[in-house]
This record gives sequence, structure tokens and C-alpha cells, in this order.
Amino acid sequence: MAGIDIEGLATVYPNGVRAVDGLDLTVADGEFFALLGPSGCGKTTLLRTIAGLESATEGTVRIDSADVTRLEPGKRGVAMVFQDYALFPHMTVSENITYPLKVRRVAPSTRAEVAERTSGELSLHGLLERRPGQLSGGQQQRVALARAIASEGKVLLLDEPLSNLDARLRLEARTFLKKLQKDLGITTVFVTHDQAEALALADRIAVMQDGKLRQLGSPREVFARPSNTFVANFIGSTPMNLVPGVVSASSIDGRPVDGGSNGSAVGAVSLAGGSLPAATASAPAGAEVTVGIRPEYLTLSTRDVSGPSLRGSVVVAENLGTMSLVSVDCDGTLIGVTVPEEDEPAPGTPVVLTASAQRVLLYDKESGELLARQPAVVG
Ligand SMILES: Nc1ncnc2c1ncn2[C@@H]1O[C@H](COP(=O)(O)OP(=O)(O)OP(=O)(O)O)[C@@H](O)[C@H]1O
Ligand SMILES: [Mg+2]
Repeated sequence: MAGIDIEGLATVYPNGVRAVDGLDLTVADGEFFALLGPSGCGKTTLLRTIAGLESATEGTVRIDSADVTRLEPGKRGVAMVFQDYALFPHMTVSENITYPLKVRRVAPSTRAEVAERTSGELSLHGLLERRPGQLSGGQQQRVALARAIASEGKVLLLDEPLSNLDARLRLEARTFLKKLQKDLGITTVFVTHDQAEALALADRIAVMQDGKLRQLGSPREVFARPSNTFVANFIGSTPMNLVPGVVSASSIDGRPVDGGSNGSAVGAVSLAGGSLPAATASAPAGAEVTVGIRPEYLTLSTRDVSGPSLRGSVVVAENLGTMSLVSVDCDGTLIGVTVPEEDEPAPGTPVVLTASAQRVLLYDKESGELLARQPAVVG
């Protein structure tokens, strides 16, 4: 078992593209770590640089504390599963799984044992003599995983391993993969551009943009407290509301607006349709900000409420299964709020929206960075 340390890493292609641009991150021993970001942000390049399939232009890669930056791929102790699985079509499942061992001249009897054991772990029993063309997509994906695991690397690198599967199979394979990773306890770096997949699977997520790290944190942290508006936009099944606002006061009537959970000053921010409580210690009254609030953290009421709130009227509601996403027109700005399906108000209904201060995030209007000294979210 082994951790991965990446320091000042840059990978520049011959055409000058800085696909990985000055990355620092550490993957802990046994961790299930997701690399998340839009197409072209450098996820595959980073994975290939860890594996040694691309060479680092700057910086270092350490695996299990050893500097492997200049080491050839075969000597790094990593196993990689490529997005298209890269199975050999003319070989049987068994031969595919044990191919890395054959290359290392492991005896045929040992190879047969490994094939038997690994195929058991990955529910491939009875399929060992088939060829990849005779398997379903999900089975092929498991053969690729089996081959990676059979090579007994210290680190498992997975490049979008679920993206070729249909939606239903993808959910099954996701659960399977999480359980397998926990059972094996192998350090795993998992690339995906699907934020829901990263949130569901990972112990921690690195969100990348243009070769750079934009946030590193647990699924809960990146969901509840995105460090910038890029991450705020990227994470979440329903988009976060990001609207212009002005810090209106650090207190109302000389009292904090909301009992700040950790004692930081709490005031209010005014935005289209009214105002919301917010931790305003880092932004003076009058400052223009971008207010970020997730639809899940707003409360919709059809009755009057005391304290800061937004007023508006319902435009449409979208069905999300057990919940509905309601769009509310607040003085010309649309704000999304999720409500239980049975509480869905009819279009045209006047409503009031409220939120607790710790859920209302303030971002710098220019840079889009989260303004510091806001109370940390609990839970
Ligand atoms: N061999 C290459 N030569 C030159 N540029 C490349 C090469 N491979 C990738 N790039 C460029 O490097 C950047 C990062 O590409 P990369 O494949 O790492 O992105 P990605 O995050 O994996 O994207 P996707 O989600 O689409 O797979 C892109 O701008 C891409 O065009
Ligand atoms: Mg890729």
C-alpha cells in the first residue's frame, strides 16, 4: 500500500499546451481519490503522468515516498484501467487478466490461480474462457479491473472506467467498485467528469480547471462550501443560485441577524427580492458580492416569516422524483429552491424564501473566490 505525493507538477505537451499546470496534492494510503473537472482540464494527462506514460515537465511524483518522476512506467508499481478498457480481443478473459503476469514471466500454474481468485472477486466466474467480444460492457469493465488488480500494483489508476456503461449498469458498477476498493484497501485515483459519481464514490475530490487545482476536499465540503464560483457551478445536480448582492449590514437592530454557530459576526446581504442572513465579517457594508446558495438549502413558505427573506412568485416546478425544483421570480431574478414533491406550489403562488446564515456563501464579485472568515458548515 502506498500514498501519492505530487509537488509543483506540470506536464507540457510538445505543442505548448500546459495540460497540468503547477499541481500540489497528496493522496493518502488506501484512499479513494477522485479527479473531477470538465473535458480538457487535464485529468487524463495527470493520471498518465502519475503512471509515467507522460513525462513531467516540472515537479515531482512520489509513490510510497519514493521519487518516481523519472522512473519508467513498468517500475512504478501502478496499475491503470483505460477509459476504453484496452482488452486484447484475441485473448480469453483468463489470458487478459493474467497478461501482466505473463510479461513478468510468472509461472502458468500461478497465473491460473490468480485468474481464478481475481475472477471470483470480480464476479467473473464461468467467463474465463470467453473472449472480450462475447461479454457485456459491464463484464468487460470488470475484466479490465481484474487485470489491473491481478498485476498487484500499489496504486490503482482508473480513467473514467464507468463512462462506457449505460445509466443503470453504471450505478451497479459504481456500488461494486466502491465496495471492491474498500475490500482491497488499495490507493485509488479515479478520473471522472461526472460530479455525481465523484460525490458518491470518493473519500476526497480534487476539482480541476485548465490544469490547475480549484478545490480539494471531502464530497461534503465541496458540495456545501465550494471555494469559488467555478466549483459552485460544477458541483451539484441542481445548479447553485449565484446572484449579485450587496452586504447590507453586519447586524440588524444592533443584534446579529442569526445566531452565528461559531460566534462570527453575522449580518445580512440584500439581493433581488429582499435579503438573506449571511456571515459578513469579511465584507464591509456596501460591498458588492456574488451570493451563492444551493436550492436544497433554501426554505420555501407560503406564509409570512420574520427576519430577512426573499419574496417572489412561482414560475415553474420541475419534477426531481421525490423532490421538485421550483423556480421563483424574485424581482426579475430566478431563484431555484427544492421542496418535497407534495409541497410543490402552483405557478403564480406568492412565496417567501429563507435560509440560515451558514448556508449563504459570499463570493468576491471579481475573482469569484469565497470570502474568508465565514462560519464553517457543520455536517
Ligand atoms: N498528446 C497531446 N498533445 C497535445 N495536447 C494534448 C495531448 N493530449 C491532450 N492534450 C491537451 O491537453 C489538455 C488536457 O487534456 P486531457 O486529455 O488531459 O483532458 P481530460 O481532462 O482528460 O479531458 P476529457 O474529460 O475530455 O477526457 C487538453 O487541452 C488537450 O487538448
Ligand atoms: Mg480524459
